[in-house]
Amino acid sequence: MRVNTEVLPVSEESLGKARDIISAGGVVAFHTETVYGLGADARSDEAVARIFSLKGRPSDNPLIVHVAEGFDLTALVDEVPPYSVRLAEAYLPGPLTMIYPSKGHVSPLVTAGGETLAVRVPSSPCAQAFLRAVGCPIAAPSANLSKHVSPVTAEHVKADFDGWIPLILDGGKSEGGIESTVLDCTREVPVILREGLVTREMIARVAGSCLVHMPIEGEKPKSPGMAYRHYMPRCRTAYAKSVKEALDLLREEKEHGGRPAVLCEHVMCAAFPSFPVYDLGETDGEMASLLYLRLREAEDSATLLIALEPKLHGGCMAGVMNRLRRAFGGRS
Ligand code: TXA
Ligand code: MG
Repeated sequence: MRVNTEVLPVSEESLGKARDIISAGGVVAFHTETVYGLGADARSDEAVARIFSLKGRPSDNPLIVHVAEGFDLTALVDEVPPYSVRLAEAYLPGPLTMIYPSKGHVSPLVTAGGETLAVRVPSSPCAQAFLRAVGCPIAAPSANLSKHVSPVTAEHVKADFDGWIPLILDGGKSEGGIESTVLDCTREVPVILREGLVTREMIARVAGSCLVHMPIEGEKPKSPGMAYRHYMPRCRTAYAKSVKEALDLLREEKEHGGRPAVLCEHVMCAAFPSFPVYDLGETDGEMASLLYLRLREAEDSATLLIALEPKLHGGCMAGVMNRLRRAFGGRS
């Protein structure tokens, strides 16, 4: 059923609306410091099912549960290891999601029938105000249609869900720009399932060590979301390893009457004087922050978007590169 989609900043009034919608089993989109989330009461099968159907998300892909700062984790999960307590002290609230054995107190749809639960305490004041107002754990994936580029502004959410959700809590641009780091805390040593703004080095410094899960072809994925093509802009895409390769692709697309554009680090922008360029900035943090913004800008005007492989390494570039490869992989 179509509804009117309101985009509102956090206020007593908008939080009251959010509370009413959530308690009636509805869905509210909200700002976080990583990307916008599409939230519903994690305890309700019906509410959680609505998220999957709105997004067109495969039901085998579990959701992250979002809780307010100070929430008692033992209400939802068992066996929180000491290293995870130290990580929480160091990095929460913030862009780090941790996975524990679930107590089964949320809808089984959240965990896709699995035994573990992913929990996140976002640092965004908008998200915190929302979570405090509703007073229940909120299951929330990124607020984009399945496989589309994740949203970092309220307008992005509206572009995907206008008429389908009643409320978007607008907290401005999501500064972090890529999704949280997903960390498996069910083992002796923490294992990263999805890289993000909290890096392997940051985790190892606090936990003593940290592994990164490498999916094996054909094996059932540990983090099902990582198995899918993802973050796809609506235009065609190609990935270039050199300026020459990028220029060849740009010229070819132009000759065929298309509107090619290039996405690259700031230092490389000058290499493409006669083509539209989407600038990813200079630092790892800027690139994370700008990646989805630029993909959403480019998809509306380019017929072919060519990503030039960034030269920058370190920091959160592992997370940026993972998204870039998956957005640009396979469809040249
Ligand atoms: O920053 C974020 O994490 C954003 C904001 C909205 O909080 N949320 C987000 O959710 O990125 P989503 O659903 O787009 O991605 C969640 C990822 C998926 O790859 C999913 O497979 C994985 O986390 N995941 C969730 N629960 C899991 C579990 N119990 N075990 C393994 N992986 C899990
Ligand atoms: Mg997502």
